[in-house]
Amino acid sequence: MLIYENKLVLAPMVRIGTLPMRILALRYGADIVYSEELIDWKFLRSRRKYNEILKTIDYIDQTDGTIVFRTNEEEHGKVVLQLGTCDSERALKVAKMIENDVAGIDINMGCPKEFSIKGGMGVALLEQPDKAFKILNTLVKNLSIPVTCKIRILDTPEATLRLVEKLVSSGIRAITIHGRTRHERPQHPVNTDTIKYVASRISIPVIANGGSKEIEKYSDIFKFKEMTGSSSVMIARAAEWNCSIFRKEGLLPMDTVITEYLKLAVDFDNSPSNTKYCVQNVLRELQDTPRGRKFLDCQTLEQICAIWELNDYCREKQKLYQTLGISGRWQVNP
Ligand code: FNR
Repeated sequence: MLIYENKLVLAPMVRIGTLPMRILALRYGADIVYSEELIDWKFLRSRRKYNEILKTIDYIDQTDGTIVFRTNEEEHGKVVLQLGTCDSERALKVAKMIENDVAGIDINMGCPKEFSIKGGMGVALLEQPDKAFKILNTLVKNLSIPVTCKIRILDTPEATLRLVEKLVSSGIRAITIHGRTRHERPQHPVNTDTIKYVASRISIPVIANGGSKEIEKYSDIFKFKEMTGSSSVMIARAAEWNCSIFRKEGLLPMDTVITEYLKLAVDFDNSPSNTKYCVQNVLRELQDTPRGRKFLDCQTLEQICAIWELNDYCREKQKLYQTLGISGRWQVNP
């Protein structure tokens, strides 16, 4: 059973948190890895299939053949599926489908995007504590794996604590608190005091989140942990930019990280568009260099790999997969 104390956690990140990045984070030292947020009704359109060639478990959208979620043995017991939902019955249906393939289920109560709020998901749930409680409690009562949620802080520490106490009473095993309000953006300072205020008053582990601007090296993770008085730390942007932030031994050069990421992208037959997106978020301003521009012109995995001298690796793996007759190629979320 997953334990949430003293853990380093890869945050849920749409399009970034697909299988190659999660495996890379684990290899660098993350203890728990969250999937990108998956919307309940989309997940319900998928069917589970074991991929004999990649040795992965794939959830494939029945309407368009895209891969909704792909997981494998290496992350078994460490991967948490994050769900976007506003409905306890739908959330339970998804959780039941996937209960044996993931280590935990997390409910997103922190997304401030219009798409989520309009659908009654993400931060919309923070304004409907009864509904949020019901979703969590329905899952807790009916699942054999732990249930958690990820929230943002409210306007005061007291209001945040009141909400958290209600959510904790549903039986969740841990709670992630992103130290910004729904109206604050990533560039705003993170409010460590509110996280600390709550963490010192509740009985379950708090996973502190929002510290990426201050987390430039491994030891900064523990400074953030201390400042928030939390059990564990969840990292999003610092890992998106350089996943080796999880390494005890220190950060690796960007090109090493990209090379290791690309190998995994090839191994797991990740789509060129998803792979390119993840590499773009490592390169950032370096996209505006001759090499960066060459990269931006790439269309195929092999072209991307060639920039990091992995074209032979990519070609050989792809040839092998073709010979073996892989199905559902490159259909991870575009
Ligand atoms: C996010 N975030 C996010 N949060 C969430 O609960 N579910 C999600 O799917 C996503 N997706 C996502 C994508 C990308 C590209 C980013 C940068 C962020 C928010 C994220 O998990 C985290 O709460 C914030 O980024 C703050 O943490 P850091 O970045 O300071 O460590």
